[in-house]
Amino acid sequence: MGLSKRTIKQLLRRIGLLGVAERLYFNARAASPDVLRREWAFIRGAIADDGAPLPPGKLVFDVIACRWRAVYLDSGSEIVDDMVDVLRSAGVDPAMWSPADQVLDFGCGCGRLIRQFRTHSPAALHGTDYNPDLIAWCAENLAFARFDVNALSPPLAYPDSSFRFVYARSVFTHLDDSLFDAWVAEMRRVVSIGGWLYVTMHGDRLANALDGAQRARYDDGQLVVTYASVAGENLCATYGNRPFVERTFVAAGFELVEFRPGRANSHLRQDIYVFKRLD
Ligand SMILES: C[S@@+](CC[C@H](N)C(=O)[O-])C[C@H]1O[C@@H](n2cnc3c(N)ncnc32)[C@H](O)[C@@H]1O
Repeated sequence: MGLSKRTIKQLLRRIGLLGVAERLYFNARAASPDVLRREWAFIRGAIADDGAPLPPGKLVFDVIACRWRAVYLDSGSEIVDDMVDVLRSAGVDPAMWSPADQVLDFGCGCGRLIRQFRTHSPAALHGTDYNPDLIAWCAENLAFARFDVNALSPPLAYPDSSFRFVYARSVFTHLDDSLFDAWVAEMRRVVSIGGWLYVTMHGDRLANALDGAQRARYDDGQLVVTYASVAGENLCATYGNRPFVERTFVAAGFELVEFRPGRANSHLRQDIYVFKRLD
């Protein structure tokens, strides 16, 4: 009798090898002939179509659990195209903003999204992350934006109401309970009144990775955190259903203006929320 995928995962988790196994799996699965051909070209000095430098494979791996730069570029483009589409559905058009408008990429990693977002908006761009290695690379190589390091817990270095738009893609998905609440409040502080917040969450499409007890808590509208001892790292995976996420952000002073559930596409599997900051 063969072992089910869930049983294998539980075994690997129990012996502490789930994270390693998942990373090997993601790299192998993404290594199509085209991805490998482009990686080889980048190694030999080819530049990205957008002209900006490419991070080393190790940094890409640390952020998206896959070291291929073609995946970093293609997934970033796909995610940001989708983000702009979601914003437009909410009646928000970043192309209409001016250079006086400030936009923050919270948990910007090694710039996968910010380098794409700049083609969609003339706004002034900022990125922040708690990993100093990622920010050092961004600050040295992505001259079109300003970058800062923050601590694992708030606050950010910015004054109240600094940003017309903040996006946090795949960041709240790696926080434990107390960090989650603290960062929701911090988002409320730095988004301007009437400004917008885009966040993503592991939702229904991904909740089948949870075991029975975790799934029951998820279905009950509670936050479920795995590997909480490494909060902030990708290994810590956090799940919350729509009622939980909506209730939490609304309680902090946001209004939900757009929701897009996770899709089958491997880069768009997280649930997407666009909130508007109320007074
Ligand atoms: C899965 S990666 C996503 C990176 C980026 N948003 C993207 O989509 O390419 C998660 C990122 O969140 C960052 N992160 C986790 N906890 C954070 C925190 N408390 N403050 C700032 N960044 C954080 C990590 O360092 C990492 O770069």
